[in-house]
Amino acid sequence: MKTAFSVQQIASGPCFSYLLESEGQALLIDPHITKADVYRQGLLKKGLRLAGIVDTHTHADHISSAAILVREYRCPLYMSPKAVSSLTPKRLSQGDAIEFGSARLDVWESPGHTDDSIALVGGGCIFTGDVLLIGSVGRTDFQNGSPGDMFDTLARFKTLADDTVVYPAHDYKNRTQSTMGQEKRQNPFMAQTDKQAFVADAGSKILPKPFNMDRIIQVNRQGTAREIEFIAAEQVKERLDKGWQILDVRRPDEYKAVRIMPSVNIPMDALASRLPQLTAGTKWILSCRSGGRAAIAAGVLLAAGLQDFCVAGDSLNGWLKKGYPVIREKVPMSLERQVRMIAGGLVAAGALLAILFSKWFLIIPLWVGCGLFYAGVSDSCMMGMLLMKLPYNKRAMEKQAAPGGSCSLGGGSCAMDAGKTGGTCAM
Ligand SMILES: [Fe+2]
Repeated sequence: MKTAFSVQQIASGPCFSYLLESEGQALLIDPHITKADVYRQGLLKKGLRLAGIVDTHTHADHISSAAILVREYRCPLYMSPKAVSSLTPKRLSQGDAIEFGSARLDVWESPGHTDDSIALVGGGCIFTGDVLLIGSVGRTDFQNGSPGDMFDTLARFKTLADDTVVYPAHDYKNRTQSTMGQEKRQNPFMAQTDKQAFVADAGSKILPKPFNMDRIIQVNRQGTAREIEFIAAEQVKERLDKGWQILDVRRPDEYKAVRIMPSVNIPMDALASRLPQLTAGTKWILSCRSGGRAAIAAGVLLAAGLQDFCVAGDSLNGWLKKGYPVIREKVPMSLERQVRMIAGGLVAAGALLAILFSKWFLIIPLWVGCGLFYAGVSDSCMMGMLLMKLPYNKRAMEKQAAPGGSCSLGGGSCAMDAGKTGGTCAM
């Protein structure tokens, strides 16, 4: 049986794409607009021929790079017969298969999240698109999604062996894969056996629409995605001299500590809501620490229809390597970092004292562990609240409250914020 292939998962924020390889040929699943160059490098490095690209459904939360890559590699795009697309994809229905190298993936029509969803099954794996996610499922409230179809699709998925590896198109909690057995046991949507209750539960969830969804769907349907330009530090400098401006998407405390000028700081988690603040006519260079967040921000700008921007590939790291000038300021340590340092120190000290003197010192790490668990469950941190009362932190907060002050005590990492707000496809 044709099944053997290797899997490379490529993440762009919470979105996953997959580059599969078998005997010199590759299949690309759900390519993301910010990762076109990563796919190119992956193919080039191993001398692979791109045999085809699959969009498991018409994406509503990010732009697909399928339009760019099918033209470039002259390979077929595979989609469901129900997908609306100007790219004339090859239509795949239930019972069809995709072959590349010595591998074969069977196509399972899997409506629910959208009516044009397909899953790919083979080699002990299932690529589920947004139908089945890890511990969750895709939302069903637009693009002809249907909770009833979702229930039926999940019922078919349950027929797969427990050791089948589940590769979803999204995850919002930094997980990468699962197994069908794990989903059967732990995913509440898979555990539901009453179709009516499933439909009622799904229908009761009111979720915000993904940012700029209509525009993203239009670009994906029409195949009008444009390449995101990544530039090196030397080009960043040249363009700044020509009047371009840096749009820095790091947290305010990171920005304040060290920044390139001229620049504007809009943190990643606030970018979508603050896009109207971007001055029309300004050409933007997106930047962050090492380029990751800037690339994701590029997807947001592209989805918003902005054209005059590029991404500083290595961002601040590349700029610093070249020895170009920056502005530095001393910033107070964030509360989150203070909590991490103190908690870590207490755990290490407690463990050491227990080894050296008495096991009763284990009470210290136990107490810290319980406190952190409670902080996670209740979303309120007692240690953070106590630290905020220290004069050092009070002064920083007063500065922050003053006009023009920084948000350096804001604490929460971008990843956490992205997790809370980025779940555009989760039910
Ligand atoms: Fe989706």
